[in-house]
Amino acid sequence: MDIASRPSEPVENPETADAAPPPHAPTVIRREDYRPPEWLVPETALDFSLGAGETTVRSMLKVARNPDGSGDKTIRLNGDGIEARSVSVDGKPGNGWRMDGPDLLIDLDGDEHEIAIETVLKPAQNSQLMGLYASNGMLCTQCEAQGFRRITFFPDRPDVLSSFTVRMEGPKDAFPVLLSNGNCVKEGEDGGTHWAEWHDPWPKPSYLFALVAGELVSNHDTFTTMSGRKVDLNIWVRPGDEDRTGHAMESLKASMKWDEETFGREYDLDLFNIVAVSDFNMGAMENKGLNIFNTRYVLADPETATDADYDAIEGVIGHEYFHNWSGNRVTCRDWFQLSLKEGFTVLRDQLFSADMGSEAVKRIEDVRILRSAQYPEDSGPLAHPIRPDSYEEISNFYTATVYNKGAEVIRMMRTMAGPERFREGTDLYFERHDGEAATCEDFVKAIEDGAGLDLGQFRLWYSQAGTPQVKAKLLHENGFATVRLEQTVPVTPGQPEKQPMPIPLKLALFERETGKHKGEALVVLDKESADFSFKGHERRPVLSINRGFSAPVAVEIDTTSEDLVFLAAKDDDAFARYEAMQSLVVRHLISAIGGGLGERERDLERDAVSQAIESALFDEDLDDLMRGELMILPAEAYLAEQMLVADPGAIHAEREGLRAWLGEELQEDFEDLHDRVSEVPYGRDAASRGARKLKTQALLYLAAGAPEEAAERAARQYALADNMTDRQGALMVLCGLDVPERDKALADFRKRYEGNALVLDKWFALQAGSLHPDVLEHVRELAGHPDFTLGNPNRVRSLYMAFAMNPAAFHAESGEGYRMIADLILKLDPINSQTAARFVPPLGRWRRIEPVRSDLMRGELERIAATPHLSRDVREQVTKSLG
Ligand code: PHE
Ligand code: ZN
Repeated sequence: MDIASRPSEPVENPETADAAPPPHAPTVIRREDYRPPEWLVPETALDFSLGAGETTVRSMLKVARNPDGSGDKTIRLNGDGIEARSVSVDGKPGNGWRMDGPDLLIDLDGDEHEIAIETVLKPAQNSQLMGLYASNGMLCTQCEAQGFRRITFFPDRPDVLSSFTVRMEGPKDAFPVLLSNGNCVKEGEDGGTHWAEWHDPWPKPSYLFALVAGELVSNHDTFTTMSGRKVDLNIWVRPGDEDRTGHAMESLKASMKWDEETFGREYDLDLFNIVAVSDFNMGAMENKGLNIFNTRYVLADPETATDADYDAIEGVIGHEYFHNWSGNRVTCRDWFQLSLKEGFTVLRDQLFSADMGSEAVKRIEDVRILRSAQYPEDSGPLAHPIRPDSYEEISNFYTATVYNKGAEVIRMMRTMAGPERFREGTDLYFERHDGEAATCEDFVKAIEDGAGLDLGQFRLWYSQAGTPQVKAKLLHENGFATVRLEQTVPVTPGQPEKQPMPIPLKLALFERETGKHKGEALVVLDKESADFSFKGHERRPVLSINRGFSAPVAVEIDTTSEDLVFLAAKDDDAFARYEAMQSLVVRHLISAIGGGLGERERDLERDAVSQAIESALFDEDLDDLMRGELMILPAEAYLAEQMLVADPGAIHAEREGLRAWLGEELQEDFEDLHDRVSEVPYGRDAASRGARKLKTQALLYLAAGAPEEAAERAARQYALADNMTDRQGALMVLCGLDVPERDKALADFRKRYEGNALVLDKWFALQAGSLHPDVLEHVRELAGHPDFTLGNPNRVRSLYMAFAMNPAAFHAESGEGYRMIADLILKLDPINSQTAARFVPPLGRWRRIEPVRSDLMRGELERIAATPHLSRDVREQVTKSLG
């Protein structure tokens, strides 16, 4: 396609608009204000002249009046920080355009027109990493959610689907590889310059556009789809990194196969490219046919990646691949519908990972993330429903609520329908909405129709925020066991009143004598309270509830410690077993933290915990991966959730106190365990992974109970390690101790992995996240380290997110931790506002913290709020956190 000719001089804009809002006036976007676009863009042609210093973009848009619009003759082309060097309509350089703030408006008289626009970008200066930017010498794009408008003027909204053709040219030595969406249809060269033209046969919204140019090498493979089509697969990385792409490639092929088998979804292009970049705001991005990944979710080998890294890579590769259907083929109508693609795709990646490994362990891990990341969000000032009603900056809504709670909500539908009927629902969804920009309501309706469920009241899960609280009580009389359930949905910002939600709970009643139950039941609590009775229980059974974590709610169960010990040892639902163990510990810690336990009572309760852990240590029916789960103490963030007003210092002291006590009490057990699992050779199999998990868990307890001996053991584990899991685990333990082995290991680690950015990130994170008493000091020093930079989000997170998530250090009584994070936010905001805004929520918890710290936290938020020229990202989060 030709780009309409243009004048060489920038066109003067005759009617420069003065309608731009003053910088501080928040612009709230509301879901209820959605209107269909006035203009569609059936075809888009982009022509890039690439350079890191300067890139010229010529766009040609074929636009057509939307028959579903209101007939407005003005087309709004969004822009952000760009200027039009020229604009022409139907080949005529025009001056019938005007700016409205950052957007470009043109009045069009007919029903179809061609608009040509030229913009000039400076990729090397783009530190926000949105739009077109330079990373490590290559050029790449990030367009979700609103980055495309930083490249060219366009109706940058997900309900405008366009057919893209992309031509790019640039110096061959700097950019030997040129990639975009779809297929390469033409290429050529001319002296030192070369060019390529790509065409994507699938119409898509602008947020799925991508371009990459740079010196890259690929790991190439192929996949044959269920209908027999051969697909070329490439994972593109910087030269030298190709040996670390094997696991990503295996994960990709496994994802493609799994989606065919589990959801009937086949890949729809002949080529699938993944590119790894080291400067990236998020984990990865599902651009059509050209996924762009943060290097940390691609590169792995045993020497540099932990077992957790391997799992994360498999999960993220799956996630982005699955978006090809849940996100790309069926996309979102507007950004309020974000959970339509994200919640569903997270559920899909969770089910995939469960099938690839241990279903039970995966479920426990997912619940742990939900509880430590999403529950605090849901009970704080930034709480929002999985389908928000308003936003100022959409980047702030890529949250654990939209993603993880969104996945839980869809999982509940699957639980109620059963997997087969759920599949009929998803089949209908894909069939009905293929090629469309859909809503969450469309999804619910398709599941309703396809699976044969009534989801009328269930829709409340999309509109109400807050984690429902369920109280459960077991009554026993005349052979009947009655489960009495009561729910309340807490008040959240903007939602003072709540209605009861349908809560599907799987439960079982265990006979004490046999340790068995007569089958699992699924009850749905859809009122404020209800009784569910079961006959045939001569003696009082033991209640196991919310098995498999069938609903994302907090269950408070009126039961004895004795019953919890019983379930922790006997429950045949792995999650419920873990849950019983957690409840036992949570219960004990909460009463101890509150100061409600005398010395003797505390020792008695600790004994119960120790017995439960000991029985997990010796249970031969458990595999080691699961055993490792049972040994993990509840997170401090989750403990804080259980209290109206939390004292982080007391929580930390009591939890670490328990660990130290257990470390002493069970010292021999942990040493034997460490000896046993240290014998297991490295492998990627479950037994070997389980062994490594236990190795570090055992060390953690030993380090708390007998630090000096443990330091020796950890140093030995470090020295003998033939893989990163063992090495990092040992170093983590040493980092928390004030021992000479600590500095030695840290220095060795740095030297050993010289030049490996991802491992260097670990080196920063281990120190910032450690239990060492001088963490604050360490972080301050590390911030001045030559390898530290605010320009790379992975590095920023490795130092400061690890610190902000380190409760003892972040919540230092002096308030220095809060000040450090506030200083970071202010310094980072002008460089990378999206990443800066992600550090606000930890400070936003002030209302639920004891008064001294609370004041200090609020003070820092106020200091940020009083700073001029904040980004929209940070301003929204700070204002809401104070509000
Ligand atoms: N859509 C991406 C995902 O969840 C996340 C993302 C959002 C990446 C915004 C970049 C920018 O897979
Ligand atoms: Zn996603």
